[in-house]
Amino acid sequence: MKKGILIFTLLFCSVLLFMNMDVKKKDKVEELLSKMTLEEKIGQMNQYSSFFDATGPAPKNDGYQKERYEHIKNGLVGSMLNVRGAKQVREMQKIAVENSRLGIPLIFGFDVIHGHKTVFPIPLAEAASWDLEAIQNGARVAAIEAAAEGLNWTFAPMVDISRDARWGRVMEGAGEDPYLGSQIAIARVTGFQGDDLSANNTLAACAKHFAGYGFAESGKDYNTADVGTSTLYNVILPPFKAAKDAGVRTFMNSFNELNGIPATGDKYLQRDLLKGKWNFKGFIVSDWGSIGEMIAHGHAADGPHAAELALRAGSDMDMESHLYIHQLKSLIEQGKAKEAHIDEAVKRILQVKMDLGLFDDPYKYCDEAREKELIYHKDHRAAALDMAKKSIVLLKNEGNLLPLKKEGESIAIIGPLANDKNSPLGNWRLGSEDNIAVSVWEGMSEYNKSNKLELAQGVRLIDENPNFPSHVKINYTDKNGMDEAVKLAKKSDKVILVLGEHGYQSGEGRSRSDIGLPGLQQELLEKIHAVNPNIILVLMNGRPLALPWADENVPAIVEAWQLGIETGNAVAEVLYGDYNPSGKLPMTFPRDVGQVPIYYNYKNTGRPGPKNEVFWSHYTDMTNDPLYHFGHGLSYTTFKYSNLKTSINKENKKVTVEITIKNTGDYDGTEIAQLYIRDKVATITRPVKELKGFQKLELKKGESVNHTFTLTEKELGYFDNQGEFMFEAGDFDIMVGGSSKTELSETVNIAW
Ligand code: BGC
Repeated sequence: MKKGILIFTLLFCSVLLFMNMDVKKKDKVEELLSKMTLEEKIGQMNQYSSFFDATGPAPKNDGYQKERYEHIKNGLVGSMLNVRGAKQVREMQKIAVENSRLGIPLIFGFDVIHGHKTVFPIPLAEAASWDLEAIQNGARVAAIEAAAEGLNWTFAPMVDISRDARWGRVMEGAGEDPYLGSQIAIARVTGFQGDDLSANNTLAACAKHFAGYGFAESGKDYNTADVGTSTLYNVILPPFKAAKDAGVRTFMNSFNELNGIPATGDKYLQRDLLKGKWNFKGFIVSDWGSIGEMIAHGHAADGPHAAELALRAGSDMDMESHLYIHQLKSLIEQGKAKEAHIDEAVKRILQVKMDLGLFDDPYKYCDEAREKELIYHKDHRAAALDMAKKSIVLLKNEGNLLPLKKEGESIAIIGPLANDKNSPLGNWRLGSEDNIAVSVWEGMSEYNKSNKLELAQGVRLIDENPNFPSHVKINYTDKNGMDEAVKLAKKSDKVILVLGEHGYQSGEGRSRSDIGLPGLQQELLEKIHAVNPNIILVLMNGRPLALPWADENVPAIVEAWQLGIETGNAVAEVLYGDYNPSGKLPMTFPRDVGQVPIYYNYKNTGRPGPKNEVFWSHYTDMTNDPLYHFGHGLSYTTFKYSNLKTSINKENKKVTVEITIKNTGDYDGTEIAQLYIRDKVATITRPVKELKGFQKLELKKGESVNHTFTLTEKELGYFDNQGEFMFEAGDFDIMVGGSSKTELSETVNIAW
C-alpha cells in the first residue's frame, strides 16, 4: 500500500515538474519576445540557404552573400538550410550566438528524406513494406546521422497523397492511400522526433506540402490543383492530421495553388484549419521561394503584397524568398500587417528552438567525434538492408522461376541499371555521396559464387552522367552493346534484366508524360526475350511504370524501386529466396499512361459496368483494370483466406472482423492481410473500396492463424463537404484479402 502511495506521489510530482518545465519554457519565450525589436522578430522568420564554402564560414565576396552574413550577425536570420557537418554548423551557429544582440540560436534544416549518409530506400519503396516499425526505425536512423551532422530539423515526411504516376515526387511519398499514408506519416514523424526532441539524436520533423501538391494537374510538378472538398477532406488532409496528432513540430506549405489560392497564401488552410481547428502549436515554413511565387500565380501584385498575404494566411517562416526580411517592417509601418501575427509566428519558432534544447546549448548537436562514430554506423547499414528487403515487391512469378537455384546455373545479368551504383540512391539524397550503392551486379556476384554470373550493360540509359542533372538526357540512338548482351542471354540459363528509370528521372521537377521504359530498354527487353524467355525482370524506378508487354511476356518481375545503399545485397537475398518477398504496392500500376489518374478507391459512378455496350464509364480501347492493383504483391509461398466473420458490438460501437489465414505453399512467408470497407449508401458518396486496416503476419509453411481487425466510427465514418466528420449507419461491405482485389467479403448492417 505504502509503495503504491510512493509511486503515485512520485508520478504526480514528475507530472507537475513536467508541466512546470513547459510553463517555464513558455515564459522564457514570452520574456525573450518582449526584449526583441521588430527587426529581430522578423529576423526569426527569415530562412536562408547555405552560402558558405563546404569547409567553413567563408562568405564569398559578393554583395548578396555578404548581406546574408551580416544578417546572421545582426540577428536577422532565424534558420539556415543546407548547412551541415558538426564543424560547419558550429561555426555558423557561433556567428549568430556570439554576434547577435540576443544570441538567439539558429535552427538548421535539411532535406533528410530517406536515410541521410546511409541511404535508405526511397519513401515510396519503404511504403511498399507496409512495415511501420521498420519505417519508423528508418527515420530514427536518418535522424541519428543527420543530428550527428549538426542538423536539428528535417523537411520530411512528405505526406502528399498522389494518384498520378507522372508526377515525379510520388517517389517521396507513401503512395495513393490516405489510410496507409496516415499510418506511415505517424511512423516517420515518431522516428525522426523520438520521444525527446531535446536529445541530440532527434530532429524536428516537417509535414509537407500543405496542401494538395500531389494533385498537380496532369502530373506536372508545381501545377494547379483543383480539388473537390470531399477529396480534400477525405484523401489529402488525413495524413497531415495524423502527422499533427503524432506531434509533428513543423509544417511546410506548398508551391501549388489549391482551388484558386496559392497554398502559401491560403488563410483557411493554415490559420483557420491547421492552427485553429486542429490546434497545431508548431510553426509553418514556406516552400522554397513560394511566398514570392504568389506573384507569378497571379495572386499577389508584387513582393510586399505577397509578404502581406503570406503572413496574414499564417505562414511563419520565409524560405528563401527574402520577402519577410525586406518587406514586413514597412508593411507594419503602413498598417498593412499586424504585429500580433509576427509575434505569434516568432513565438512558435522560438518554442520549437527551445524544445530542441538549442537555448540550453546551441552547440549540442555539434560534436565531431560523435559525428565520426555515428555516420555510416554498421547498425545503420543493417537497418538499411532490412528496410530494402522489406520494400521489394514480387509482381509476377510464373512457373516459379524464382527463387533462383543456388548452384549449377549460368545467369546473365543485363541492363543499363545492372551495375549502376548511383541510380539506386534515388535523387533526394542530398546528404549522401555519389555512387555508394551496392549495385545489383555487385550484390549478386558477391552473394553466390556457385552459379556462373556474367554481366552486360546492353544499352546505356543516359548519354552522360552529371551529378545533379536537372534533366537526364536519355539515350535513344546508341545501340552498341545490344548484340553482346543478346549473345550472353542466348548462352545463359536465365537472364536477370535490370531495367527502369535513372535515379534522376523522378523527384522534384521530374514529371514524365511517358511512363514506360525509357530509351532503348524496351527494345533490349524484346531482343533478349526472343533468344531467352527465362527472364527475371528487376525493376528500378521511382514511380509506377506502365509495362504491359513485360507483364504479358516476362515470367518473373520484381519491383526493386530505388533501394538505397544496400540495393544489390537486398535484391540478391530475395532472388535467391533467403528472404521471401512480402512487399505490397502502395500505388496502382497502370497499363497505360492514358489511364492515369488511376487508383483503387475510385467512386462507382452512375454507370459502373462492365457492360456489352458503349454507354458506361470506360475506355473503348482499353480495360479499366490496372496492370497491378494497389496492395498487390506475391510471395514464394501462397496464402489462403477463410472464415470471415463480422460481429457488431452496439454497446462499444465496435465491429470486429475475424479471418483465418493459412500459409498453403512450400516456404515460410510473410503476408500483409488487408481490410477494406465500402459504405454502400452515403450522403456524400463513398469509394468502392477503402483500406481500413492491415496486419503483417509471419507464417511458417503450413501454419494458419486467426486475426481480428477492429473497426470503429473513426474507420467507418467520413468527412462531409464542410470538413465535419460523420458516421452514417447502414450497409457496409467488409472485404479482406492479400490485395485490394480482396478475396472474402460480407455485407453487414452497422447501426448503434
Ligand atoms: C521542395 C521542398 C524542400 C525544399 C528545401 C523545395 O524545392 O519542394 O520539399 O524541402 O525545396 O530543399
